[in-house]
Amino acid sequence: MAVTATSVSQTSNSTAAPTLDAEHPLSSVKGESKQEHDARMAWWREAKFGMFIHWGVYSVPAGYYHGKPVERAGEWIMNNAKIPVAEYQAFAKEFNPVCFDSAKFVAAAKSAGMKYIVITSKHHDGFAMFDTKASDWSIVRATPYGKDPLKEIAEECRKQGIKLGFYYSQAQDWNNGGSAAHGGHWDKAQDRNMDDYLDKIAIPQIKELLTNYGSGTPAVIWWDTPVEMNPQRSERIQRVVQSLRPGVIQNDRLNDGKEARLSRKGLYPGDTTTPEQFVPPQGFPGRDWETCMTMNGTWGFKKEDANWKSSETLIRNLCDIASKGGNYLLNVGPDSLGNIPEESLKRLSEIGNWMKVNGEAIYGSGPTPFDGLMGSFSPTERDKEGHPKFIPEWKWRATSKPGRIYLMVFDWPKDGAFQIPKTSRKFVSARLLADPTVKLSLLENDDGSGTILKGLPERAPDSSASVIVLEE
Ligand code: GLC
Repeated sequence: MAVTATSVSQTSNSTAAPTLDAEHPLSSVKGESKQEHDARMAWWREAKFGMFIHWGVYSVPAGYYHGKPVERAGEWIMNNAKIPVAEYQAFAKEFNPVCFDSAKFVAAAKSAGMKYIVITSKHHDGFAMFDTKASDWSIVRATPYGKDPLKEIAEECRKQGIKLGFYYSQAQDWNNGGSAAHGGHWDKAQDRNMDDYLDKIAIPQIKELLTNYGSGTPAVIWWDTPVEMNPQRSERIQRVVQSLRPGVIQNDRLNDGKEARLSRKGLYPGDTTTPEQFVPPQGFPGRDWETCMTMNGTWGFKKEDANWKSSETLIRNLCDIASKGGNYLLNVGPDSLGNIPEESLKRLSEIGNWMKVNGEAIYGSGPTPFDGLMGSFSPTERDKEGHPKFIPEWKWRATSKPGRIYLMVFDWPKDGAFQIPKTSRKFVSARLLADPTVKLSLLENDDGSGTILKGLPERAPDSSASVIVLEE
């Protein structure tokens, strides 16, 4: 009997995000004051830019099954091709990442100016990329490699000063019998009682991940696809988290359904909202949020996915996200030998070159002080949720810090002048981050409609985004 995904219906008329205080519906979530919350989020808000790593046994088939390409994301291949459990588990015997080098993984993140890493410890296929006692379906017990890469990465992150988070798919598990994905199980070997799965696999593994990787690790838990995760089951997991690592940052995907993502009452809102593969038009004012995005068309490695975004696009996405107050979690998908694809490394290095000169505009920045959407809503096109599709305009963005505003200009002016929109903030000087020797002048518009900045060089300092600092 196929297990069907029965999401718990949440009736909620409140749209306000719940406060994490005593009346929080999940009693295990201790209320914290705004000061405590800000202190806990401080490193994450400073970091702004992280590396997502999707790595698992799905990198062996790498998007192909029985010689045929399988559509959609590489890490979903078992589900998308309805591969029987026994057949999928045979891939583990070919998974021997002899090229894996934790120092190279961490160096790749640092080369881009990334300040944290979130790596898949267990994805929806249930394959544990770590040494777990709860199941034999792991890189230590089921592969010729036989070692725990997360332990090596955790040690390397501590050495290189990068925070490490663990992605954990807490509900779906297509081999150990976790909840069904959309459409239900396809192999009788998967059928299992969900609470028994939580008891025997998920909760023991979450405890292992929270306690076996050293102090401060994980700094983030990245839950995903909360199929059949009702508040009772979330409560059980939260009790474990709050007792073993109360300061860990969590996203909004522990609970079931859309409500969790909107952090509505009655569900554990987590600390961060997680728009995936898109940048919300105005961010989520007053809420920490993070756009996660692939560099090509897949999270997990696919040998033929060449749908790479340009470094210019990735840099402008980073500027766009930071200008709306968000973080950018940009993905790499290592192959079955443990290599990060060259195309990814190239982009990481190019982003890093930009960050070396312009990172001051991103790290620890706040959202733009200027009003107005940098784009418009299409009168005809709809987004995934049926709302009018937002079409961004790629002229410029801005971020802010006390006493400073950073203009990140994509479309460099031809006449050496830039019109700064009206704002209550008054500027006394301006300079190019790339070349502070260039003399720039500021002149208030007579009609009070803003300020004109003059003296810009003919050539943009950077073809992707050039940063002008406005000092107050
Ligand atoms: C979706 C996909 C999952 C991926 C995640 C990253 O939830 O199901 O495969 O890990 O996005 O945000």
